[in-house]
Amino acid sequence: AHGPLADTFGRVATDLRVSLTDRCNLRCTYCMPAEGLDWLPTEEVLTADELTRLLRIGTRDLGITQIRFTGGEPLLRRDIVDIIAAAAGLDPRPALALTTNGVGLARKAQALAGAGLDRVNVSLDTIDPDEYAAITRRNRLDDALAGLRAAHDAGLTPVKVNAVLKPDLNAEDAPALLEYCLEHGYELRIIEQMPLDAGHDWRRSTMVTAQQTREVLGAHFRLTPDPAHRGSAPAQRWLVDGGPATVGIIASVTEPFCAACDRTRLTADGQVRNCLFAREESDLRALLRGGADDDAIARRWRAAMWAKKAGHGIDSPGFHQPDRPMSAIGG
Ligand code: GTP
Ligand code: 5AD
Ligand code: SF4
Repeated sequence: AHGPLADTFGRVATDLRVSLTDRCNLRCTYCMPAEGLDWLPTEEVLTADELTRLLRIGTRDLGITQIRFTGGEPLLRRDIVDIIAAAAGLDPRPALALTTNGVGLARKAQALAGAGLDRVNVSLDTIDPDEYAAITRRNRLDDALAGLRAAHDAGLTPVKVNAVLKPDLNAEDAPALLEYCLEHGYELRIIEQMPLDAGHDWRRSTMVTAQQTREVLGAHFRLTPDPAHRGSAPAQRWLVDGGPATVGIIASVTEPFCAACDRTRLTADGQVRNCLFAREESDLRALLRGGADDDAIARRWRAAMWAKKAGHGIDSPGFHQPDRPMSAIGG
């Protein structure tokens, strides 16, 4: 069962995104309701040992070269440092990255770096305290900013900042956010919101498009296309005022990059998803807990990826938002 995670369109998945938990300590309005969601019961979530076994199969047998840990909020996993350390011990050793809201990062950045984490992306939509509280429904801006600083100091670089813009909320603050990131040496990326909110309230008409983002930033900065090769990176990079600093724009909806997708995903409860927008999942946890051997698990994983669709189809007439929200799939 050795061999790459290929699909029928010639793509090969080498980048694994793992959701460590569906829980979160923020309640971003574009993601979750104020009261939270029905979290996965603990016994349904993969243990660190179960996860490590899947990561070993992925890196040893299936060609995974990069692992990104996401959530929900992955720092809510108390065993996160052990999970990172186990992943860093795999052979061949994958590149290790983390996507977090940064709130718990100040306390953990050193330990994570020590365990082998290479870099972090921090979700931060604004540096305005009132807007931050309005979007996340929590007053944790100072903690998130301290987390960013700690990550930078711990060498978890390049530190990237992910921002989702909402019209009439934080969209007008984007230039101030970019200024802050430039000052501190973080790479800002602005993301088009995708239909992955728990409330199914997403409308294309209320999404800030990549084009609108370029206009908002263009009023304060001179943006020119970054000549560097983009590869499979979701962000289109722009040089800010001639460079070398850049800002990225992730146009998942208006300029989809599905044709270059190199991702496979694992949910916190051990389901493989071949796409953020997949309608089907493959249950690796059942195989694990049913005593299957590594080959059987690898075969199931490869079969799941072989069935990957050409694209997310957000613009197709029959589009259905996935049943699980972003926080349960893993961003
Ligand atoms: P880098 O390796 O640092 O470029 O990370 P990344 O951008 O792949 O990961 P991150 O977790 O920071 O995600 C940033 C944004 O990219 C997410 O909010 C999503 O909007 C988008 N994204 C991540 N994975 C996918 C995907 O498979 N499909 C689409 N359409 N968007 C994705
Ligand atoms: N569309 C795009 N990005 C989203 N994120 C959360 N929900 C959405 C959505 N519906 C972002 C978070 C985080 C990243 C993993 O995904 O801000 O940075
Ligand atoms: Fe939490 Fe991320 Fe969702 Fe915000 S976007 S509520 S930080 S999982």
